[in-house]
Amino acid sequence: MKILMVCLGNICRSPLAEGIMKTKVPENFVVDSAGTISLHEGEHPDKRAVKTAANHNIDISRQKSRPIKRIDFENFDRIYCMDISVFEDVISKAKNEEERQKISLFLEELGGDKNVEVPDPYWGGMKDFEEVFQLLDKGCDAIKKQIIT
Ligand code: 4NP
Repeated sequence: MKILMVCLGNICRSPLAEGIMKTKVPENFVVDSAGTISLHEGEHPDKRAVKTAANHNIDISRQKSRPIKRIDFENFDRIYCMDISVFEDVISKAKNEEERQKISLFLEELGGDKNVEVPDPYWGGMKDFEEVFQLLDKGCDAIKKQIIT
């Protein structure tokens, strides 16, 4: 199973989602992350994301930002998007129904009528990063339940 987490810059939300998910799935699973923009390409995650993960004993410091690319739509089995605008951007890049089927909103797996967007903590503070971590942790648990039967 190959899972790709996608946000806008690939320096805050999706690196955290990648780091959290890796702690929850078997070692033969591939978990990666990407952004829809290449502004931060090659950069490590935002220091606040690194610190928040470290507070939970997860090391995301060696990850590097990269934009989503065409081959990802073929290589990955599931592509989880952090918010609606990311979802719309990613789905517009899919070239057929098989690829579109792989793409969903990350928080949709939680079900219910809860907000389906992971808020962008980039303009916020450490408290926002911790709240995003908790949301991502719940979402990763829901995804794990859904994909590991
Ligand atoms: P992310 O957060 O999508 O969770 O990585 C952002 C990072 C950078 C920017 C926006 C959001 N930016 O505009 O540079």
